[in-house]
Amino acid sequence: MGLKVAIVGGSGGIGRALIDELMARYPNVEIAATYLSTAPNDDGVDGIMWAPLDVTNESAVAEWMQSLGSVDWLINAVGVLHSDVHKPEKSLTQFNPDWFMQSMNINCLPTLLLAKHAQAALKQSDNPVFATVSARVGSITDNQLGGWHSYRASKAALNMALKCIAIEWERTLNKARVLSLHPGTTDTLLSKPFQQRVPESQLFSASKTAQFLIEHIADAHAHESGRFIAWDGQTIPW
Ligand SMILES: NC(=O)c1ccc[n+]([C@@H]2O[C@H](COP(=O)([O-])OP(=O)(O)OC[C@H]3O[C@@H](n4cnc5c(N)ncnc54)[C@H](OP(=O)(O)O)[C@@H]3O)[C@@H](O)[C@H]2O)c1
Repeated sequence: MGLKVAIVGGSGGIGRALIDELMARYPNVEIAATYLSTAPNDDGVDGIMWAPLDVTNESAVAEWMQSLGSVDWLINAVGVLHSDVHKPEKSLTQFNPDWFMQSMNINCLPTLLLAKHAQAALKQSDNPVFATVSARVGSITDNQLGGWHSYRASKAALNMALKCIAIEWERTLNKARVLSLHPGTTDTLLSKPFQQRVPESQLFSASKTAQFLIEHIADAHAHESGRFIAWDGQTIPW
């Protein structure tokens, strides 16, 4: 049996690059990918099956997971940092409860819903991986600058969720490797407004980031489940 990978948020900058990297590395890979707003035009091409999915909707997540049968790797690349009306907060005066809840809803909740409904699919794999693209700014230990309250808090909550999933699955799905991945600053729509001060050498193309992340996913051992891993393989403190 070949590798079967579910990519949630495959329409995003990093999500799309993960799909392309998987296809380049594993010519027989089967990919089930999701989008929210714009349907990609390669449905059914080269082993990619696209589905629309609002990953904050539990019944939609459950239905999609059930439709997949077995899955080897599930990678969640969904996330939000800003919108047309909201920017990451520079100070508490900019804090907005609705935006905070949207950030939690998109950055944290889906990983718990996916974990709940992916268990049966991952149990059928000999090599299961459950990974979410998080962000270094979700590290409490690493936080020296403050600000970005909603994004940081939602990514810290995401990291706690991943740690809890890893601990629970040591008992119930013990082959699974549960990973929280920091991609590094990557040239996508999400980072576009914040790239000016990033040195060129620290701004990765999405394809470079995807190479790093797929390498870590492919190499992760069972004892590394529950790790927060950066693009360069370093463990980030929670
Ligand atoms: N880019 C960076 O520098 C950077 C750095 C650190 C961490 N990250 C993290 O990396 C991940 C991917 O970011 P990116 O840079 O690739 O961003 P992006 O290009 O803006 O992509 C975001 C993805 O999230 C999807 N999405 C948003 N809300 C959704 C919902 N309710 N249901 C389903 N899908 C939803 C979007 O779907 P549609 O496009 O179909 O609407 C899109 O596929 C995020 O978690 C982000 O926090 C990125």
